[in-house]
Amino acid sequence: MDVRVFDGKAAASKAAFNVIKDAMGNGIQTLGLATGSSPVDLYNDMTSSDLDFSKMTSVNLDEYVGLDTKNDQSYHYFMNEHLFSKKPFKQSFVPDGQAADIEQAAKDYDQIIEEHPIDIQLLGIGRNGHIGFNEPGTPFDEGTHKVTLTQSTIDANARFFEHEEDVPRYAISMGIGSIMKSKQIILLAFGEDKADAIKATVEGPVTEDVPASVLQNHDNVIVFVDEAAASKL
Ligand code: GLP
Repeated sequence: MDVRVFDGKAAASKAAFNVIKDAMGNGIQTLGLATGSSPVDLYNDMTSSDLDFSKMTSVNLDEYVGLDTKNDQSYHYFMNEHLFSKKPFKQSFVPDGQAADIEQAAKDYDQIIEEHPIDIQLLGIGRNGHIGFNEPGTPFDEGTHKVTLTQSTIDANARFFEHEEDVPRYAISMGIGSIMKSKQIILLAFGEDKADAIKATVEGPVTEDVPASVLQNHDNVIVFVDEAAASKL
């Protein structure tokens, strides 16, 4: 894995932005996008740039089940707020967490990914090594699916909600199988909280117990980290 360590999140995000910018110069069509705090600086770089995304497609990783898209904790809301309202894409797909039939919505999303092969997939990482909402134990070959969130993820995300019990218990996530089909993957991780997950991802055994460790099997991954996230390497 190509691990690049930077002095701070801003510098790392700028470097990741430059990879996307160069790839757009080479005609990529589809960006896989992520939510969470990790890509926020990168999205700011994108929105303040003169890059034009209006001919590109975006495909997001995941969404909570049951949150209205107008709820400010939904990933639809997050993406609009941070990126789409400022830099619209030709079309943007985010999994439908409000579908009456989540299993069907998952199948439909796999079809969307099939029709729009992802050139670059952005990823954050959970403290337990999850990518998207693929929690430890998720089979590596799985497609889009409904996820029962782990207590560790509920606790990590509780800070964004008024009460812990407001945190959704389920999500719909692109699967690891689809993430691995992306031509290139950019993983962003910042802060000491991520140091164990980054060590396990980069140096640990490839195991379903650490979903991100699967990235060792992909031949085009760049990991952008700050010194704190890299501190256990
Ligand atoms: C959530 C998201 C992940 C994200 C993770 C880390 O669980 N589903 O896609 O990578 O949080 O978030 P953060 O970047 O805020 O640390």
